[in-house]
Amino acid sequence: MSDQGKRIAVFGAGYVGLVTGACFAELGHTVMVRDVVPERIAALRRGEVPIYEPGLDELLAGNRDRIGFTLDVAEAIDGAEFVYVAVGTPPTFSGDADLSAVWTVVDELPAIDRRIVIAMKSTVPVGTGEKVRHRLDQRGLGHVGYVSNPEFTAEGTAVKDFMEPDRIVIGAFDEADGDAVEELHRGIDAPVVRADVASAEMIKLAANAALMTRISFINEIANVCEATGADVVKVAEGIGHDRRIGKSFLRAGVGFGGSCFPKDSLALKQLAANSGYHFQVLNAVIEVNELQKRRVIGKLTQMLGSLRGKRVALLGLAFKPNTDDTREAPAFVLAGRLLAEGADVVAWDPVAHADGLHGVEQVETVDDAVRGADAVVLVTEWPQLRDVDWPAVAAAMRRPIFVDGRNMLDPDAMRAAGFAYDAVGRAAPPNGSPANS
Ligand SMILES: NC(=O)c1ccc[n+]([C@@H]2O[C@H](COP(=O)([O-])OP(=O)(O)OC[C@H]3O[C@@H](n4cnc5c(N)ncnc54)[C@H](O)[C@@H]3O)[C@@H](O)[C@H]2O)c1
Repeated sequence: MSDQGKRIAVFGAGYVGLVTGACFAELGHTVMVRDVVPERIAALRRGEVPIYEPGLDELLAGNRDRIGFTLDVAEAIDGAEFVYVAVGTPPTFSGDADLSAVWTVVDELPAIDRRIVIAMKSTVPVGTGEKVRHRLDQRGLGHVGYVSNPEFTAEGTAVKDFMEPDRIVIGAFDEADGDAVEELHRGIDAPVVRADVASAEMIKLAANAALMTRISFINEIANVCEATGADVVKVAEGIGHDRRIGKSFLRAGVGFGGSCFPKDSLALKQLAANSGYHFQVLNAVIEVNELQKRRVIGKLTQMLGSLRGKRVALLGLAFKPNTDDTREAPAFVLAGRLLAEGADVVAWDPVAHADGLHGVEQVETVDDAVRGADAVVLVTEWPQLRDVDWPAVAAAMRRPIFVDGRNMLDPDAMRAAGFAYDAVGRAAPPNGSPANS
């Protein structure tokens, strides 16, 4: 342990907790990660990483002497100077964030008499810090500090995002606690935004909402491109060069999913509504995304007629490449709609599983997925799909219909490979309408 190394307890051994713990260990701190799922802790103790996140295995293995795993709160807290909260905050039926796991962590804290700082990594509604502060004070834990330190990492690049973030946001009630949390990040070269707790909480929600807005915006542009004969890929390139706009998050596709965007947009919408404000833009962003996921069904119906008995292969189940996370994945919505239309659905993904997708046949290879299929839908832009022998795929299908839901592949090459190829917001050539193929 380095001289500056602190002792950190991390509550939650999920995507955020494990990356946070591993990265803090890499920075020289001593970390104890606590979870409530015995199999998860047992696996981590054996050196097995229960999630797929590039670089995480190596980081955990390389810092084994500085990171431990436990089910026990007392063991996690023992000697800790910081308690990072990285538990899930899924949506409730009302769309509000379910903070029950956060409250459990707060209430499970023993009556410690020394100074310790709680740092909130979980994404929580604005006002949560204030409520936690109140609860701690009520319990006679006024000396326990509270800092909002939201997480902006993206699954698939989370380790890099943590070590090389665009910014570190720290919102504290007590500036000394904020200083202490900032000091934990020593070694990371990034701007630090210091704010009050409510603003730090809102920064996280607003950042996600801004990104989602860009996605729904470009998806709507794509839909208009389809109707008017323009190509959204060119359009995105053309507007992305404008420095006021920028290039990122301008890829049209079948909509966003994942464990963050859908739930965080709902939580912000509800947060606004609960405060008496109707967040019109965000409502539209959410609705556009829902419709976008379903547009593929319309395209397939246009090309195949009734989908009953048609075999449709989905390439990709994860909500994006380089993760095994399928929470709110567009592929699941698509599969559900296809099954409801009576289609036979077969799916391939290199790491994600079709758990809970009853009626979907998951196969090991792209070849197995496409053999005899009436249509293929590329749902997740896994890099290995670039290397597929597409002419062979077209030949192996019953009907070579291909919907590229991520605009990943080259339309000309795919058409030359023998496909009736359609994508998102990319006009088909004048005489090559997929509907006629
Ligand atoms: N996944 C992401 O990329 C990402 C990025 C930024 C922010 N976030 C936010 O971070 C939080 C965690 O997200 P995640 O994807 O890591 O969730 P996750 O579901 O992968 O992990 C949460 C973990 O917390 C554990 N847990 C539940 N109650 C606990 C308790 N009382 N003590 C200890 N552990 C407990 C669960 O068993 C689970 O392993 C959420 O609020 C999420 O919105 C996630």
